[in-house]
This record gives sequence, structure tokens and C-alpha cells, in this order.
Amino acid sequence: MLTVLSRRSAAAGSGVLRSLSTWSAVPAGPPDPILGVTEAFKADKDPRKINLGVGAYRDGNGKPYVLESVKKAEALVDASKPDKEYLPITGLADFNKNAVKLAYGEDSAPLKAGAIAATQSISGTGALRIGAAFLARHYPHSKVVYLPNPSWGNHTPIFRDSGFEVRKYSYFDPTTIGLNFKALKEDLANAPEHSVVLLHACAHNPTGVDPTQEQWAEISDICKERKLFPFFDMAYQGFASGSTSRDAFAVRYFVSQGHQISLCQSFAKNMGLYGERVGEFSLVTSDPEEKARVDSQLKIIIRPMYSNPPLHGARIANTILSTPELYAQWESEVKSMADRIISMREELYNILSKDLKTPGEWGHIKSQIGMFSFTGLKKEQTVALAQKAHVYMTADGRISMAGLNSNNIGYFAESVDGAVRGNL
Ligand SMILES: Cc1ncc(COP(=O)(O)O)c(C=O)c1O
Repeated sequence: MLTVLSRRSAAAGSGVLRSLSTWSAVPAGPPDPILGVTEAFKADKDPRKINLGVGAYRDGNGKPYVLESVKKAEALVDASKPDKEYLPITGLADFNKNAVKLAYGEDSAPLKAGAIAATQSISGTGALRIGAAFLARHYPHSKVVYLPNPSWGNHTPIFRDSGFEVRKYSYFDPTTIGLNFKALKEDLANAPEHSVVLLHACAHNPTGVDPTQEQWAEISDICKERKLFPFFDMAYQGFASGSTSRDAFAVRYFVSQGHQISLCQSFAKNMGLYGERVGEFSLVTSDPEEKARVDSQLKIIIRPMYSNPPLHGARIANTILSTPELYAQWESEVKSMADRIISMREELYNILSKDLKTPGEWGHIKSQIGMFSFTGLKKEQTVALAQKAHVYMTADGRISMAGLNSNNIGYFAESVDGAVRGNL
């Protein structure tokens, strides 16, 4: 018996059985373009290494940051010795109420009318997935979604896997490193009526380029004329300007104009609850009776996906949103995170354009908004930066400004200067 077993394992080890495996035809997939950067960074042993790939906030010493308001809320949650029972399918009811209030504003007409259908989600990604699945099943008019070009890399697979045809509308102009508003308007005006349009509510990822309030008003008009369905992704409320209400402008404006929007919220960035997976998906309906019907269908979508969402992070977020002192502290912490990022933009611009006189125009680093900057660096330059300077970013030249601090910004700027001059 032993000899049979050992002969078999020797055969398996030598690969003889590999071709017989059920999974032998599964091809190796490419690494995730963003999370793959972190893997390469981790494998690099150089002490000067910098990771500007992933969109997670870092403090002034480059360390992950747990907000004080989060620590206090977590202590309050723990002190209440809560049970670990299942949440309902759509999550913590109080959290849903408070999350929606944060986004739409307490004066929102559909909120006051009890016409916003909402569910807790597994962070922003989960909200997008629920939303795409809901629209695929219940949006009667179209299975075409328009994404900005470029957009967050996960938008395409989320909508494609949910049954949508994914198309792009113009957004970024590489020559000005700004918004190509004319082409954006043309593309939306030419989209088939009733198409779904994904809009980054603020702090557009990856470009850091947002429409102005006047431009949002024009986008709203085009959506109305073409009967386009506005699907908002708001993963960075508070991170763009430091003010959660200012960053909700586009969402609130569209709702005030009578659009029945859908909205995805993430509490990963603005509360630093990345791994707790706290988010919200909501839809504006016409009245409480319709909301109840939509809510019932959200449950039917979610139940076979993951049954019900995680408890802990939602309790923390809800404690912050419902405790006035913690809410005030959280708002000031969001502002200080946004301010630190803005100060890094200023400093990077100054070093590149004034101290090092790096060839090129760097004004966009200051004018872009939110966690990311689209530097304009070319793919070969990003490769050289990783290989020769141990500086990691996504291949499209996007950097997370939150990964810069006073200890590494000088080295980073000198490395960029070397890459641009081709003498790293
Ligand atoms: C534009 C955008 N949407 C959604 C998300 C979802 O993030 P999470 O699932 O961590 O909340 C992100 C995260 O980077 C993002 O940048």
C-alpha cells in the first residue's frame, strides 16, 4: 500500500498527472494592475522604496492611519458588549439612514419624502456590484453603461460581469492634463437615449480632475435631454475639498434637478475603514411605496450574493455618524487628511518646477483633486522609476499623493526628475 501511494505521489510530483487535472486548462491571469504594484513593492528590499500605487491614506510618517474618531467609536461599540448575530440582508438600519443623510444632505427632498431605497454594502466595490446587478435586472431601458475614459480599473469588470456592455465617454485630455469637457459633452450627447452613465461624484480616480460646479450643471442638463441614467460612484466624500458637503455637490445637485440617481458610497477612505468594508448603495425612487418595492428587490439580489453584510465596521461608522462630538471630530480629521494631501501637492510642485526645474509643466499636480495625481509620466518612465529608484506607481503614471511625506518627497521628486531627463 505504501509503495502504491509513494509511486502515485512521485507521479503527481513529476507532473505526469498534471494534464489530467480538472483545472489544467485554466490560464494564469495577469496580476491586478493596482494590487500588483503593492506586491512588487513588498518584494523590494531597498530602504528608500516608496509605494504610491494603492489609494490608501498614510500619515506624515508614511504609516497607515487609524482616525481618533474611529478609535473612540470602536471603544464605545466594544463597551456596549454587542452580540454577533446576523444583520438583516440590507444591513444596519440606523447606518443606512445616516449614510444616506451624509450623502444626500438632510434637506434632500426624496430623503424627507422617504423615497430613497438603500442598503449597506461591502464597501464601495460591493455597492457598485449590487447597483450593477440591480440595474441589469430591473432597469428597463438599456444594458449599456458609459464610463469616463479613464476610470477606476474595477469599473469595467464590475459592469461587464453584471451583464452590461461597457462603453467610454471622453474625460481626460493628456495634452492639457485636464478635463476634455467639450469631448465629454459631445460623447454624452451622442450616447443612445437611456444609457447608464457612471459619474465619479468627486476626486476622480485616477486623474484627480473633477468638473466644476458649472460643468456639473451642464452634465445634468445633457443627462436630462438624453434621458441618461446617472449612476454616481462616491468613494472619496470629504477627500477632495476636505468638506463632506462640498464634495457631495454633484450628487445633491442632480437630485435637486429631479434625476432619479443611484449612488455608491464607500467609508474606506473618509473613515479609514478600508478592511472593515463599509459602504452603501442607494437609489432615488418616486415615493415610499415604490421604495418598498425596490428595497424588496435589493434583498433578492443580495441574499444569494453574501446573505448579509459585516457588522463591526458599520457599527463604528454609525456611531460616528450618530454621535455629534464624534461626527465633529471625524469631519475635522477628514479635513486634516485632505489638507495634508493638498500640502504635498504644493510641495511637490515647488520642488519639481522651481528647485529642480524638471522639464515639463507641473501645474496639474496642484490643480488636481483628491488622493491621486495623474503625473503625465510615461509607462517607460514608471518602469524605470520602479527598477532603478524603487519608486512604485501604476503604469498609467498615477500616484497616490497620500503616500508622500516630508521624509520621502525630496527623494521622490529627484527620482521623477531623473526619469524625465532619462538619466536615472
Ligand atoms: C472610484 C472608486 N470607486 C470605488 C472604490 C471602491 O473602494 P472600496 O471597495 O475599498 O470601498 C474605489 C477604491 O479605490 C475607487 O477609487
